[in-house]
Amino acid sequence: MSYFLEARGLRKTFDGTTVLDDIDFRLERGECLVLLGPSGCGKTTLLNIIAGMLATDAGELHCDGDLLDAPARGLHQPMRERRFSMVFQDFSLWPHMSVADNVAFGLKVQGMARAERRRRVAEVLRQVQMEAFADRSPGNLSGGQQQRVSIARALAVRPRLLLLDEPLSALDARLREDLKVELGTLLRDTGVTAIYVTHDQSEAFSLASRIALMYQGRIEQIGAPEEIYRAPASAFAAGFLGVSNLMPYRRHNGGLRLGERTDIHWRLNGVPDEGQLMVRRESVWVSPSEAPANGCIALAGVCHRTNFLGDRHEAVVSVGEDGFTLRGFSDERVPEGTPVQVRFPAEAVHFLQR
Ligand SMILES: Nc1ncnc2c1ncn2[C@@H]1O[C@H](COP(=O)(O)OP(=O)(O)O)[C@@H](O)[C@H]1O
Ligand SMILES: [Mg+2]
Repeated sequence: MSYFLEARGLRKTFDGTTVLDDIDFRLERGECLVLLGPSGCGKTTLLNIIAGMLATDAGELHCDGDLLDAPARGLHQPMRERRFSMVFQDFSLWPHMSVADNVAFGLKVQGMARAERRRRVAEVLRQVQMEAFADRSPGNLSGGQQQRVSIARALAVRPRLLLLDEPLSALDARLREDLKVELGTLLRDTGVTAIYVTHDQSEAFSLASRIALMYQGRIEQIGAPEEIYRAPASAFAAGFLGVSNLMPYRRHNGGLRLGERTDIHWRLNGVPDEGQLMVRRESVWVSPSEAPANGCIALAGVCHRTNFLGDRHEAVVSVGEDGFTLRGFSDERVPEGTPVQVRFPAEAVHFLQR
């Protein structure tokens, strides 16, 4: 088995409610897998199972040649034997210990000699730019500084796997942005294998080598960030990442019928019989004047409103006989009620089956 971590068929039920089902994924050494999904979809539960804090009800979990969990065989390796580290949203530092003692704690437990421990603590505190704070008490540090210390503590023991559960969610926006960038650099520089839980797509985009998009206890789609963005596998994936437009369609008279009455010309090669037509907001162009179609799908519509975004305007329009609401971009502010042309290139269209 060449994968560093492999999960097969993990499942978790709490009081008769299944909160995780059919969880399969593989991870290579040095990867950062981001578990991304809305609150309540099962991210923390999955992370806790991987950590060994919770036992899975079914399936198997392997790491680096070891079988960690296999309930069918009565097997569950305790958390401390896994040699994983965790970072939590609330920092979870020991308040009565100095920063350096917090970071040294795991090394002491491992039995590392004092001099080497000192060197290692200094090294990781330097990596998170906290070396000047070694003697401070965590209570005197800002949230961002506390989270840096907690990351240093997690890395100090050179974990086989680093698990992070919404580590930036307790910080304010500006700090979150800075620490996100630093964390990306740190993960790359240390080469640590990581699983990172978040509900925030920008964190997922900047940190993930791959994203596992989760929804209602299942992995909806797994892949590189670009891949999930470019080719979402479902309406949920299309809606959770980026801003998408969805319209129900079916094949009709050699073309496509959107909704009940809106017909468009389309070459039907490879198009499923029915489903949802998806096009990203950034591929939809809205303009009060008509332009030649040039390989684009062009629909007549009416502008509802424009939202100024700084570099351009978002236009919310209703199009076609069915009055679908679409979001697109426009060069200018378009007054409410103005007739507009809505265009999008055929290549930007995806057909979704669920
Ligand atoms: N110990 C528990 N007992 C009962 N239900 C739980 C327990 N832990 C989590 N849940 C439920 O499982 C679902 C997934 O929770 P969680 O893994 O915390 O989601 P997330 O981290 O994605 O927000 C939620 O509906 C939550 O209420
Ligand atoms: Mg959670």
